[in-house]
Amino acid sequence: MIEITKSGIISSLKNINNDKFNTNLLTLNSIKKFEHNDDNLNLDISINAKDVNEIKNLIETQLKKDFTGLKKINLTISTKSSTISTHKDAKKDAIMPGVKNTIAVASGKGGVGKSTVAVNLATALAKDGAKVGLIDADIYGPSIPLMLGSTDKPKVYQEGNSVKIIPLENFDVKFISIGSLIDDKAPVIWRGPMASGAIKQFMTDVDWGELDYLIFDLPPGTGDIQLTLVQTIPLTGAVIVTTPQEVSLIDARKALQMFTKVNVPVLGVIENMSYFIAPDTGKKYDIFGSGGGEKISRELDTPFLGGIPIDSRIREGGDNGFPMVFGMPDAKETEIIMDISRKLTEQVNLRNSSQSGKIEILLGDDD
Ligand SMILES: Nc1ncnc2c1ncn2[C@@H]1O[C@H](COP(=O)(O)OP(=O)(O)OP(=O)(O)O)[C@@H](O)[C@H]1O
Ligand SMILES: [Mg+2]
Repeated sequence: MIEITKSGIISSLKNINNDKFNTNLLTLNSIKKFEHNDDNLNLDISINAKDVNEIKNLIETQLKKDFTGLKKINLTISTKSSTISTHKDAKKDAIMPGVKNTIAVASGKGGVGKSTVAVNLATALAKDGAKVGLIDADIYGPSIPLMLGSTDKPKVYQEGNSVKIIPLENFDVKFISIGSLIDDKAPVIWRGPMASGAIKQFMTDVDWGELDYLIFDLPPGTGDIQLTLVQTIPLTGAVIVTTPQEVSLIDARKALQMFTKVNVPVLGVIENMSYFIAPDTGKKYDIFGSGGGEKISRELDTPFLGGIPIDSRIREGGDNGFPMVFGMPDAKETEIIMDISRKLTEQVNLRNSSQSGKIEILLGDDD
């Protein structure tokens, strides 16, 4: 017999086994209202799924089964999924007709946390109910399979004369990486054109199906791969990751200018490794300085999407293949990432509506 408490409710709901309802995402925070008196229960649960009615029935059935003493269950389901607009472009639609938006995660400097941010953004968007794909565009240093905890190899199938690759999927994110296709101990020693060819194939030969967002985790810098990407499909936009320190900002500026030059809108700047809070004392340390991300976004007139602290659990999440939005659903850092992903969605919607000539409605939005 489970107790009628918030955690009791969550344990009960975790027993639901249905493809459309990812119970891994349920936490105490999912319960927005909990009132229990006598044999009545009033409950508001926030979920990430789209088929709300079907899921409401599943939840009701499960609660009735586990809490037999209840006479009345008043259940409200709210969804977190935000509006998803579509970037319209003939060239993109010809190559990936089911993909609504394509977003590159880039930086000038290496090691600032692009892959960490890309994985966590992708899982955060998926947690909010979006259909998400992730392309590991770092051919020479792929890290997505490790960060998404996958050692699988993608399957292929024949379609007419061409071979289609089925992307792998973990944490509700479909992904493809050279790291899953070749022996992970051997370095990739391809010349530029071959690496660029692989990126093209990730767009043209992978069966992405329907996606709201396809995220590209780029290698550092402004080289061949970045160019191939922007030449193959016009991206919805790019996100620049930087640490607060000056050396990283210099390179972030270059990355930003590269995208501007090739007419890819920069959707915003994310500052990573913004600060460190000592777990024992709670004291804040600005290890790489502070305010750099906001400074550069002001300077280049692009939105500041947020700052992610240095946290050993974020690093561990990457190394263990368990992104923090799943590994630490109730942590402050997860909230920060969720907030950044929602701000990014707003920026995508803003760009897409300006594309269809509706910008005047949105000019008041301040970011
Ligand atoms: N906020 C953070 N807190 C703690 N560790 C972090 C954080 N962000 C990234 N890291 C760690 O820093 C290292 C570099 O991160 P990551 O691989 O994401 O950077 P990158 O920019 O993709 O690097 P590259 O340029 O090589 O592709 C990794 O070990 C990662 O786990
Ligand atoms: Mg990387």
